[in-house]
Formats: sequence, C-alpha cells, structure tokens
Amino acid sequence: MIGSLMMCVSAVILLAGMLAGIVMGIKQDFALAPAHAHLNLIGGVLLFLVGLYYRLIPAAGSSTLAKVQGWLHMIGAIAFPVGVAVVILKGEALVAIPIGGSLIVVAAMALFTLIVFRTAYA
Ligand code: HEM
Repeated sequence: MIGSLMMCVSAVILLAGMLAGIVMGIKQDFALAPAHAHLNLIGGVLLFLVGLYYRLIPAAGSSTLAKVQGWLHMIGAIAFPVGVAVVILKGEALVAIPIGGSLIVVAAMALFTLIVFRTAYA
C-alpha cells in the first residue's frame, strides 16, 4: 500500500538529509541550508506523517486518490529541495525546477486535504 512506501521513502530521505546536514557542519558552509530544511521537512517529516495516516485509516490509504497523492508528494518532496539547491549553486536560470517542485508539493497537499476531509470522521 502507498502509505508503507511513503514511510520507507521518507526514512531514507531523512537519513540523507541528516547526513547532508552533517556535511554542511563539517564544511562550515551553510549555503544549502534551505534545501536541507525543505528536504527534511517535506520529504522526511511530512511524507512520513501522511504515510502513517494512510496506514492508520486504510479506507483513505487504499484509494486511487491516495496513490496519486503519494506519488505526487514523493516526486515533489525531492524535486523541490533539489531545485532549491540547483538555484543556490547554479543561479536563477533553472528556477523552473523549484517552481515546478513546489507546485507539485502543493497539489499533493491539496489532494491530501480532500482525502482527510473525506475520511477523518469515517
Ligand atoms: C543529523 C541531523 C541534522 C544535522 C547535522 C543538521 C544540520 C544543519 C545545519 C548545519 C544547518 C544550518 C545552520 C545554519 O545555517 O547556521 C541546518 C539548518 C536547518 N535544519 Fe538541519 N540538521 C539535521 C536535521 C534536521 C532535521 C531532521 C530537520 C527537520 C525535520 C532540520 C531542519 C532544519 C532547518 C529548518 C534549518 C534552517 C534552514 C535555514 O535557515 O534556511 N534539520 N541543519
């Protein structure tokens, strides 16, 4: 089920994000801190919580809408922070990547809002 996949992916993302934080600390170069923060929060914390909701409420997690939501969330949670990092390192020319990533994340959140409203009281 999509919730299990989301929790597994979030654990790997959080591990990678923490290791990246340690690398920032070792190098004393905090330029990529915004990318680190968004990777850990959207790809680690939020992705895990949404996956957990799908496991707790199987009627929500087994729907086709949840599968679409989960894949959008996983793709956006990586594309957005990677895009932020690319813009920090390479400049504004590639700003379409974080813009696209952020729109995917917000679309995923809109779908999740709909799913929660449909299932939270069921
Ligand atoms: C081993 C674990 C972690 C390490 C070593 C680490 C390291 C860092 C470092 C070095 C910075 C930059 C600080 C500065 O700019 O002075 C930072 C910023 C930040 N980290 Fe982490 N971090 C870790 C885990 C996490 C986790 C789990 C989250 C969120 C769930 C998180 C969220 C943030 C946020 C929100 C910022 C501020 C970003 C900004 O100012 O733009 N970090 N972290």
